[in-house]
Amino acid sequence: MRLNLTINGNALSYDAAPGDSLLSVLRKLGYYGVKHGCETGECGACAVLLDSKPVNSCVHLAAQADGHQIETIESLGEYPEQGWKTTAGLHPLQAAFVESGAIQCGYCTPAMILAASELLSNEPNPTEYQVREALSGVLCRCTGYLKPVQAVLRAAAVLRGEEVEPIGTSIPVPPGWIPGENELGKPEDEIFSPNEQPIPPGSVVTPMRVMPRIQMAPETETWHHVGKPEIKVDAIKLVQGKPAFAADFEKRGMLIAKVLHSPMAHARIKRIDVTRARNLEGVAAVLTWQDIPRVVYSTAGQSDPIPGPLDSFSLDHKVRFVGDRVAFVAAENEEIALKALELIEVEYEPLQELFDPERAMQPGAVIIHDETEYVNFAESDPTKNLAAQIRIDIGNVDKGFAEADRIIEGYYDVPKVQQVHIEPHVVITYWDEDDRLVIRTSTQVPFHVRRQLAPVLGLPIKRIRVIKPRIGGGFGGKQEVLIEDVAAHLTIATGRPVIYEYTREEEFIAARSRHPMRIHLKTGIKQDGTITANAMYTLSDTGAYGCHALTVTGNTGHKGMALYVGDGPYRKAPNIRFYADIVYTNHPPAGAYRGYGVPQGFWALERHMEKIARELGLDPIDFRLKNALRTGELHPFSTAWSEGREPRPETIETCGLEECVRQGRAAIGWDQKFGSPAWRLGAGQPHLRRGIGVALVMQGTAIPYLDMGSASIKMNDDGSFNLLVGATDLGTGSDTVLAQMAAEVLGVPVQDILVYSSDTDFTPFDKGAYASSTTYISGTAVVRAAEQVADRIRARAARIINKQAMGEQINPEDIALIDRQAIAPDGSRISLSEIGHDAFHRVDQEQIMGIGSYVSPVAPPPFAAQFAEVTVDIETGQVVVDKLVMAVDSGVIVNPITASGQIEGGMTQALGYAVCEEMVYDQAGRARERNLKDYHIFQAHEMPELTTLFIETFEPSHPFGVKAVAEIPIDGVAPAVGNAVFDACGVNVDDNPITPEKAWRAIQQGNLV
Ligand code: FES
Ligand code: FES
Repeated sequence: MRLNLTINGNALSYDAAPGDSLLSVLRKLGYYGVKHGCETGECGACAVLLDSKPVNSCVHLAAQADGHQIETIESLGEYPEQGWKTTAGLHPLQAAFVESGAIQCGYCTPAMILAASELLSNEPNPTEYQVREALSGVLCRCTGYLKPVQAVLRAAAVLRGEEVEPIGTSIPVPPGWIPGENELGKPEDEIFSPNEQPIPPGSVVTPMRVMPRIQMAPETETWHHVGKPEIKVDAIKLVQGKPAFAADFEKRGMLIAKVLHSPMAHARIKRIDVTRARNLEGVAAVLTWQDIPRVVYSTAGQSDPIPGPLDSFSLDHKVRFVGDRVAFVAAENEEIALKALELIEVEYEPLQELFDPERAMQPGAVIIHDETEYVNFAESDPTKNLAAQIRIDIGNVDKGFAEADRIIEGYYDVPKVQQVHIEPHVVITYWDEDDRLVIRTSTQVPFHVRRQLAPVLGLPIKRIRVIKPRIGGGFGGKQEVLIEDVAAHLTIATGRPVIYEYTREEEFIAARSRHPMRIHLKTGIKQDGTITANAMYTLSDTGAYGCHALTVTGNTGHKGMALYVGDGPYRKAPNIRFYADIVYTNHPPAGAYRGYGVPQGFWALERHMEKIARELGLDPIDFRLKNALRTGELHPFSTAWSEGREPRPETIETCGLEECVRQGRAAIGWDQKFGSPAWRLGAGQPHLRRGIGVALVMQGTAIPYLDMGSASIKMNDDGSFNLLVGATDLGTGSDTVLAQMAAEVLGVPVQDILVYSSDTDFTPFDKGAYASSTTYISGTAVVRAAEQVADRIRARAARIINKQAMGEQINPEDIALIDRQAIAPDGSRISLSEIGHDAFHRVDQEQIMGIGSYVSPVAPPPFAAQFAEVTVDIETGQVVVDKLVMAVDSGVIVNPITASGQIEGGMTQALGYAVCEEMVYDQAGRARERNLKDYHIFQAHEMPELTTLFIETFEPSHPFGVKAVAEIPIDGVAPAVGNAVFDACGVNVDDNPITPEKAWRAIQQGNLV
């Protein structure tokens, strides 16, 4: 059917099929700022303005837009500089999103800006509540919505012609600073609490100050670029909706791939007939296990050797979960591909199913992996359904228990939850002009994809090129070689380009998730609160495949159980036990998810510590700090475990935990609220109880002696630099912080560092984005490369200056690089552009370049104190989280805006883990949650107040003193909320999320106070 559309003011005609969605038509027309995040109208990533009203174009037929005006993000703003042409520059909303750090991965950004523009065109002076309502239809998994809200309020002020405060003022606070609670100077009950009551019109309670508070390390005082709120290097393209993501790519003759997923949880494929599918017109290929080589591998994107069993095939004659792969199809369009799936005939021989992890190792349990090709790693044993096993004893745990006055035990459960990156997994594969296979994919681990897929595809590594463009969030879900092989097999089969993009339902039924676990804790304590021994046993359900089984669950103990070593003599000789069994079941496989096993451990540990403190009548904070790890002590697990490799003792050089507690408790008003009946009962109504809770947490920074990052830098003749890194920016801002470090060493603005990342042909190797390692590992590699370049610049500058000068000769080492200049101690100077030009065109010509690599011998932990304030409705069990405060020691903060965005976004993900997110399966192993309506993630209008405090320490193992920041915010929210619920009404919920039903049942059965 012929449609007349007016898009961004341009009238055009388009031939659409009757069922075409507006989303698909707009993308086919090249409006790539319109994103796909689901197919059911729930994520809002596809929002456009139709006759000036926001609509979700995925659930809007193109035919419905016939004769109407459509606006996409491409209608707003222009790149601020276009050579000789004067441009209007960015729209104030786009500029505010860029300046405020409201963009992380940027996948939701176009839709957010369109929603905000519609609001501001009707309401130039919106309240915060109106802004949050306007943004509520667009899900963001990265930001926690705080900075987008600030950006919209800022843009509104600009559009009203008001002066706005520059971003970047008012960060540093002196050591010893205590901010006090409620810095806004407003009465407590005016603080934003959207679930209680709307904000009064005209009020803005989210501070307009974008910068977080930072107690700065003194070493950072003289730096120019590290520690500063530099704008993200990719922000301007993302805010304009430029075609930056994996799917925003055109290739003539591209086929659409689809996968037939198993409806059975455990079965053999007795017969599979694809004749009718292959004969369907428009089908280019149908592949089953009979058509491709049988190569066993692991889908876990990890360095070699992969610390887990090899137990997966691209396609197999057995299925092991509902959602497992049965066949691949490539067709001319999606409709034909889906039709072909229906025409595939499969006869299954059902096998006994195993869903209960407790039964997995019992005699007589059905064996899920009986294939002969299975390759063991360490203690894995498929005959016992054991994907991995861990047995760690530090000190003498039995002696420690014997020395205790009390032994307290508890069981804790954590659910399976989803990463929910708004960009689904997507890959495009094609043969290039040299018949090399190009894989353009939304991955966190491009180099691992290349290495791991080579044998699966029967290609040498040198014939594969993996490109990682911008990624719409990953959170560990894209640390999996999950879909690249599907498209690649189909490109090999057809010779044609292929795109395979998960639907949201596929994300829920076939992608990876957080490992659910049952955790037992047993702790020996002396009457004064000294921990004498601590033991954890974890039963972890890895699902049908053992990807990340060992390492995720290893971290459950390695991080959580390391935090509390005990006091007095136990500090030097702690008694800690961590045992774990990671078992196969017929659930969908678990895998990597931000935090990587650590949130599970801290849910159990920090709920348990709270119970111990309460039972012994100890102050929960004092008790924790009394036993917590301190600077100068050995990381207890470093003597006992290293993800299946040889352990090497490691000393904690920096631990800002006590200061985090001090500042965090002041920020949330702990001393006024904790133990105060007036505050607890003062929520305004008799059925409401307030509570306050705390959790202390630690993470790691990278994987020592294993994961390598590298970088190269070359100088251009205008004094700018190309920085090439294999590191993978998922939206976290890692490209930006790497550029900041290079800029600091080279003495140039960040805008002079042109970053190109993650292309296996052009950038040096990097292990990828996981384990919170990029700023630390890849950052050190960048510094090493930059120092080589700086040395060459200084040498050349000294030669030029010495030639010009008649006096004393200048030593290259004495030259400083500042403000695009090389400056000698006597003040003589030469610009970097002159040096670059000299190097290319004048004397002793050379390409000034540097390359650096780094593997760390240590993994310095960041530490944090997480506080939560809740209101519990004791009649309904509803738990409303009112406030989250996180005080973090992540070493030196390279970019306060991107780093605080990580904390806000991480806390928001963790908030879902605390109160609502959970994946549940029926008795046949079918997922209950298959869309973003049934699986709820927090929206802009549901958020509590978020506060981030950075307590800097200077980690000596990094040139700029950094430690990790990305994962730690996800560790402590759930237990802090659980502890706050206990504080509010005196009942324990030991299995998260704390849904209203669970809280209500606990209240009914418990001793309500
Ligand atoms: S892509 Fe349209 S709402 Fe998700
Ligand atoms: S920035 Fe919103 S989804 Fe990533």
